[in-house]
Amino acid sequence: MEFNHVPIMLEACIEGLNVKGDGIYFDGTLGGGGHSGEILKRLTAGKLIATDLDEDAIAAARKKLAPYGDRFLPVHDNFKNFKEIITNYGYAEVDGVLLDLGVSSYQLDNRERGFSYMGDSELDMRMDRGQALTAYDVVNGYGEERLKYVISAYGEDRFAGRIAAAIVKRREKKEIRTTGELVSVIEEAVPKKFQKDGHPAKRTFQAIRIEVNGELDGLKDCLYDMVRSLKPGGRIAVITFHSLEARIVKQCFKDLETDCVCDKRLPVCVCGKKKEIEVLTKKPITASGEELSLNPRAKSAELRIAEKLPNTLKISV
Ligand SMILES: C[S@@+](CC[C@H](N)C(=O)[O-])C[C@H]1O[C@@H](n2cnc3c(N)ncnc32)[C@H](O)[C@@H]1O
Repeated sequence: MEFNHVPIMLEACIEGLNVKGDGIYFDGTLGGGGHSGEILKRLTAGKLIATDLDEDAIAAARKKLAPYGDRFLPVHDNFKNFKEIITNYGYAEVDGVLLDLGVSSYQLDNRERGFSYMGDSELDMRMDRGQALTAYDVVNGYGEERLKYVISAYGEDRFAGRIAAAIVKRREKKEIRTTGELVSVIEEAVPKKFQKDGHPAKRTFQAIRIEVNGELDGLKDCLYDMVRSLKPGGRIAVITFHSLEARIVKQCFKDLETDCVCDKRLPVCVCGKKKEIEVLTKKPITASGEELSLNPRAKSAELRIAEKLPNTLKISV
């Protein structure tokens, strides 16, 4: 298995993290280890803890990043267990956190994983192949209303109702086993005149993938944990690939950047809310034209970076 893809906005991420040689860093989405490798290059006495749900990614990164010895601490886990993971290594705070959300190019390109609407493979879509729920279970097991909700909420597809109804109708005759079969159902459900702007199955595939992997569940709380476990001056960098993730990151950063929210008519602050971060990217950073020409998947990527301020709320882990 090869993890040869160029990491998204690599330079901006590494610069944004402002890596210190003796710092403790957390890469929640190890993937092909591209971002992790650049962080490790800059560490002298520091450590990098890196998680991925995908055992293939962990195994490949263990090999690729082996030269960094015990500076590199890969963990097969969900980054949402961040606090527990850093605590297990004896850390209460870190100097930087990186999240490059979603699926990796390896997962998308590896057809047998069933993430892609190109090709024809078993409906799987699990990042962690140890988990029980698969795309097959969602497509063949969810009721029509629940399917409609998933496709609408996580795919923001205007034809969610038609697609859900078509899935249910098709599976009444025969189970939907492969990505190709699912694509054909969606193509029939979406009116032809709306099939010009991008692949008609794109949004449904995104939606099912988000549902299978619980991608948005607990993301907000996890971001708060991460920010509050940063040392003063520590940085968090998050790359998102669609508006649902982007909204969560944006709202979380906005809230953490806001001071007192008391009614302006009150003479003194009673809410006690303190600004905890400075958002360094007033507008999200996007990929350059050059990067886009090399990697079209960077098109929807947005990078947001924030710095922890001194003397703000600290949580004990
Ligand atoms: C976009 S890729 C990361 C690519 C990586 N930055 C690189 O340089 O190659 C996202 C990776 O994060 C993993 N992932 C997604 N959500 C996760 C989660 N909640 N916990 C742990 N890993 C996750 C996926 O399995 C995938 O390998």
